[in-house]
Amino acid sequence: MKLEIALIPGDGIGPDIVREAVKVLQTVCDKAGHSLKTKSLLAGGAAIDATGKPLPEETLEEAKASQSVLLGAVGGPKWDAVPGELRPEKALLGLRGGLGLFCNLRPALLYSQLADACPLRRESVEGGLDIMVVRELTGGIYFGERGRTADGAYDTMSYTKGEVERIARKAFEIAMKRSKRLTSVDKANILETSRLWRATVDEVARDYPEVAVNHLYVDNAAMQLVRNPRQFDVILTENMFGDILSDEASMVTGSIGMLPSASLRADSFGMYEPIHGSAPDIAGQDKANPLATVLSVAMMLRYSLGMGEEASLVEKAVDKVLDEGLRTADIYTEGTKLCGTRAMGDALVQAVKEA
Ligand code: IPM
Ligand code: MG
Repeated sequence: MKLEIALIPGDGIGPDIVREAVKVLQTVCDKAGHSLKTKSLLAGGAAIDATGKPLPEETLEEAKASQSVLLGAVGGPKWDAVPGELRPEKALLGLRGGLGLFCNLRPALLYSQLADACPLRRESVEGGLDIMVVRELTGGIYFGERGRTADGAYDTMSYTKGEVERIARKAFEIAMKRSKRLTSVDKANILETSRLWRATVDEVARDYPEVAVNHLYVDNAAMQLVRNPRQFDVILTENMFGDILSDEASMVTGSIGMLPSASLRADSFGMYEPIHGSAPDIAGQDKANPLATVLSVAMMLRYSLGMGEEASLVEKAVDKVLDEGLRTADIYTEGTKLCGTRAMGDALVQAVKEA
């Protein structure tokens, strides 16, 4: 098969980790007999510096024309003074909205090799952790009207029933392929959008009688995630709650440097990125952990390109290098082997070749 992938390395460590992930993808393609064509596009601070805009039209157009997009990270203190509408983060929202990527999948997996990095008591995570956060990504307060008044400011959270229904369906489909447990998170004791959310999720649930559904308020969900994370399988939630809970879920697993994400449309098109940020303090120093981006490539192979076997090849390579004890600084513990971004990439390439 011929793969045409748009790359958006972005800012900070973005270029470091995307470079390694592409190395791994290229190796997988060579091995499986696929041809790979990549095109690097500008977004975020890099685009502001080059063009004055966080998301040049060309980037959106080229991304649309590709089979899927791999993104590093955007933003950094350099652009902190830039006004809201022109901030690097605006590029992310523009890509999500412009590409129609309403479904954000954020798996939070505890790697047994990294169990020591988990900040919770051992008994809380005994038997492993495998949570899938399904976050609505193109609605809610992120995309509502906002502004300033004479002496205040406002942001608006709104959802249509259709928006809730399509993300709920995705989440139920995913739950059907996992352990058939779904927790929908809202704030229905306060927010009208949450009452719509809850009623709509219950409606969709009727089409999936095998899935056990429960509803939690977001404050309680945040607490339950650290109290007893093993109660969760699929967590379905709106845009901002998902932003917050996915960070929390990632920390529960021990390293935010390990977790990938997929942002999907109704068809197979998607954008893939690590859930961590651009870590400008270690950019270009060969210190960043490329594993979340590499695992994002695995998600791309599986969800957008229909290449489950190739995806497993990547995931097994990650497992192998962890088994070998290789660790970038963020996941290093005593007795393991500290390595840099490139060395981690090289080890993955080797593992793919040998598989
Ligand atoms: C994320 C990030 C983004 C978000 C920011 C950078 C706009 O935190 O992908 O979780 O809030 O969605
Ligand atoms: Mg976030």
